[in-house]
Amino acid sequence: MNVTVFGTGYVGLVQAAVLAEAGNKVVCIDIDTKKVERLKQGVIPIYEPGLEPMVNNSVSSGNLSFSTEAAFGVEHGELIFIAVGTPPDEDGSADLRHVLTVAATIAQFMESKKYIINKSTVPVGTADKVRATVESELSKRNRSDLPFDIISNPEFLKEGSALNDCMRPDRIIIGTSEADSEQKLRHLYAPFNRNHEKILVMDVKSAELTKYAANCMLATKISFMNEMANIADKVGADIEAVRKGIGSDPRVGYQFIYAGIGYGGSCFPKDVKALISSAQQMGIAADILAAVESRNERQKHYLVEKILSHFNGDIQDKTFALWGLSFKPNTDDMREAPSRILLTRLWERGAKVRAFDPEALTECQRIFGDREDLALCESKNDALQGADALIVATEWQQFKSLDLNEVKGALSTAVVFDGRNQYEPGEMRDAGFDYYCVGRPD
Ligand code: UGA
Repeated sequence: MNVTVFGTGYVGLVQAAVLAEAGNKVVCIDIDTKKVERLKQGVIPIYEPGLEPMVNNSVSSGNLSFSTEAAFGVEHGELIFIAVGTPPDEDGSADLRHVLTVAATIAQFMESKKYIINKSTVPVGTADKVRATVESELSKRNRSDLPFDIISNPEFLKEGSALNDCMRPDRIIIGTSEADSEQKLRHLYAPFNRNHEKILVMDVKSAELTKYAANCMLATKISFMNEMANIADKVGADIEAVRKGIGSDPRVGYQFIYAGIGYGGSCFPKDVKALISSAQQMGIAADILAAVESRNERQKHYLVEKILSHFNGDIQDKTFALWGLSFKPNTDDMREAPSRILLTRLWERGAKVRAFDPEALTECQRIFGDREDLALCESKNDALQGADALIVATEWQQFKSLDLNEVKGALSTAVVFDGRNQYEPGEMRDAGFDYYCVGRPD
């Protein structure tokens, strides 16, 4: 099928690459000339395992191309995805400017029926706004005769496993009331709908709300566990035992109940805030979501409190080795990453940081620039040299096994603050470490 994707961010690029690999002719449109030029040369702006070869293969086979020419994109695609950003406004609500600009652009250039598919995470009711925008632009052209449909088809990919999530989705949500649109999308997604039925067709508003409800439910699980971890701390219980104890009930499940130093990334924080804001605008107090959000904000300070208490409030001129800068493993994304709060609070108190991350060093440099109190290190071992303590902020695979002697030898004092519960408290203590983690007895 001929497909156009507006927006070459995370969602758009992954979607385009996967659809092109499945044999569709895909054109990606972006207004960022430099980004498009780099993509044409095979330079992928984000780190996502497997994405670069997939994009480059499809470019070579002619199934995928990049352009800044919106008119060309509109002409090319019978199916047109809107996958542009919806950054939060000051009040946390999603800013729809980019989505509606693309909608208007499509209407300005379309000459035949278009299936306009919204992939961006947008508040309930956005499809109506997109429809109104398209109608108004068509009417300005005196082309109200041109048919179109607005479909909600939210994305559920996770950074770090985006290709797999896209190619082997748990579900494919198609929000439309038109049989014709449903057929088109069933056809497009047929290669990804093998083994058992994954397509769920529903009305547009339910599809839009499903996206937010899914992320907010997962964020709720995490904040709930983080709250339990704080209680575990006080009563001397072990949150890891509690996790196994409750996860074994299939109604709770094992996933997304790991306590830590808070969720980050471009999705959970933004989507929780946006749904709170939407609810408020409708006169609904989103009590649960407000609590999820405030627990998460507080949780990002959890380790700092433990650090300050260990050093009796004085970390002036202390040096910390920090392992992990990205908000989670397998990405270079530092948006809303707990490491940012850690860094800022340590610096405020006069401490120095030697940081290592397998992918996010460049991003860290971009965000914080050159500073005397930040050394970006080449390896996890390098970061440890001479530091007064190790802090683990992200559970990268290479941090999971700790060479206790090596760590002890490199640090000036054997202290570990583990924000992701990667190590066994008993083993750490036996090896002579002061070991602090989240919701487990120190
Ligand atoms: C999330 C959702 O998982 C995807 O389904 C969704 O499509 C995506 O948002 C989106 O809306 O685009 P993502 O933000 O990539 O994906 O990352 P997750 O793997 O969900 O992790 C989010 C955060 O939760 C991370 O900071 C992670 O460290 C934290 N987390 C996760 C925990 O603290 N504990 C857990 O048990 C699980």
